Amino acid sequence: MAKQDDHFKKVTAHAKEYGYVVQSSEIYDGLAAVYDYAQNGVELKKNIREYWWKAMVQLHENIVGIDSAIFMHPTTWKASGHIDAFNDPLIDNKDSKKRYRADVLLEDYAEKLLQKAEKEIKKAAKRFGDAFDEEQYKTTNPRVVNYLAEHQQVLSDMGRYLEANDLAAVKALIEEKGIACPVSGSKNWTDVKQFNLMFGTKIGASADSAMDLFLRPETAQGIFVNFLNIQKSGRMKIPFGIAQTGKAFRNEIVARQFIFRMREFEQMEMQFFVRPGEQMKWYETWKKRRLSWHLSLGLGEENYRFHQHEKLAHYADAAADIEFNFPFGFKELEGIHSRTDFDLSSHEKFSGKKLQYFDPELNKSYVPYVVETSIGLDRMFLAVFAKSLQEETLPNGSTRTVLRLPAVLAPVKAAVLPLVKKDGLPEIAHQIIADLKFDFNVIYDEKDAVGRRYRRQDAAGTPFCITVDHDTLEDQSVTLRDRDTMEQKRVKITALKQLINDTVSISSWLKKIDSEA
Ligand code: GAP
Repeated sequence: MAKQDDHFKKVTAHAKEYGYVVQSSEIYDGLAAVYDYAQNGVELKKNIREYWWKAMVQLHENIVGIDSAIFMHPTTWKASGHIDAFNDPLIDNKDSKKRYRADVLLEDYAEKLLQKAEKEIKKAAKRFGDAFDEEQYKTTNPRVVNYLAEHQQVLSDMGRYLEANDLAAVKALIEEKGIACPVSGSKNWTDVKQFNLMFGTKIGASADSAMDLFLRPETAQGIFVNFLNIQKSGRMKIPFGIAQTGKAFRNEIVARQFIFRMREFEQMEMQFFVRPGEQMKWYETWKKRRLSWHLSLGLGEENYRFHQHEKLAHYADAAADIEFNFPFGFKELEGIHSRTDFDLSSHEKFSGKKLQYFDPELNKSYVPYVVETSIGLDRMFLAVFAKSLQEETLPNGSTRTVLRLPAVLAPVKAAVLPLVKKDGLPEIAHQIIADLKFDFNVIYDEKDAVGRRYRRQDAAGTPFCITVDHDTLEDQSVTLRDRDTMEQKRVKITALKQLINDTVSISSWLKKIDSEA
């Protein structure tokens, strides 16, 4: 755990030092759970957004994109259920005065049980070697059986109580499990209360005529209310999808863990409209497709897992998270939800407008069912950044910090370094930048010895360094250094564009997504 905390501290410090993420309004001591993206962060974020957009919109003939407004008519949120049901169950510890999400306390408790079971399994695997049968061990070792059964029981009890809005039972479960406040260590809890997460605001000039609005807590509703506009203007045939990226706002109470849980964040969502009855097939398809998108970035298959929801949101008949192994353990990165016809039917009811699709093959009209994929862009940023940040011991015993960002996402693709600041080398370096800048984001760096510059670019996540030296004047060649392997090779200046492109081009990375999924 201490190792995890340590890595997480390094992640936040590195993000600031290398121009990725900083606290918002830092000069005024910051604003909790609100962050700004600096010069490298904005590029990384843009590249992740583009990687998602191209995979969803460009690679699917039946998905189109939109950009709907953050402000929406207030009835939207009545229809969507957010006014009545977009709540977190909160509990306060009376001694530390700290506030927690009751479901998070129980989930953390359940996660610890899982970790205990996994530890036992690992120990046994080591003891028994090749003869170890994990499945058999899980079902026969009494300690492991108990841990796994209790893990399951806690989550399913919690799900049932929250579903029934039985907050007294949620509190009783926390007490029964002896869960203590992580700050005070005490078990002196208040009752559990529901707290709505939407931010309110007003539109209009005068107090009497102003209209109460909410900042959208999800981008999805902008898609639902536009369903018919897009279907008709694009002559879309079911099944089809509408995608968008944009800001969402939630008054998160437990705002911690850096950009994992923010009050202002960005979502990348896609609503896939299907025939009623076919939603489960599409739900399974999108689970596979989205996992394949993640795997294409090469952060390691072992860092992803699915988590089936016990407690379903008010709109869903099935839901799963893709969880990622963040520095603080496996947590939700993306949600895949089968949202039934809840949203469109509800908007029909509240607006009085028909939101139906005429299916020429079935010769009838119906309200489509929806399967949604929803990922937080900032959370994806954290996943990529945290996993890429590595400390390495080199063969000569020295260490280096390297940010092994997938090259397609790296903010800067190459740094051009004149070996010395004289003899015409800076001029050649600038000329190389002038040639490459139409295709890639490239930078110039002449400060310090070249070894230090390499280390600086490694830590900033730049996949290539191009060094111009005195031989360049003779042979028009440069040294191309690879961030990950540290391999250096001599290449012609005219070959640079192709060599860099082979590694960073978005099309070659997109081709790694399993097109069969
Ligand atoms: N339209 C469905 C929806 O909004 P969600 O599970 O509440 O579902 C989807 O959110 C994704 O948005 C999450 O998986 C997460 O990546 C991201 N997300 C949600 N709340 C967030 C927050 N406070 N800060 C950063 N990302 C958040």
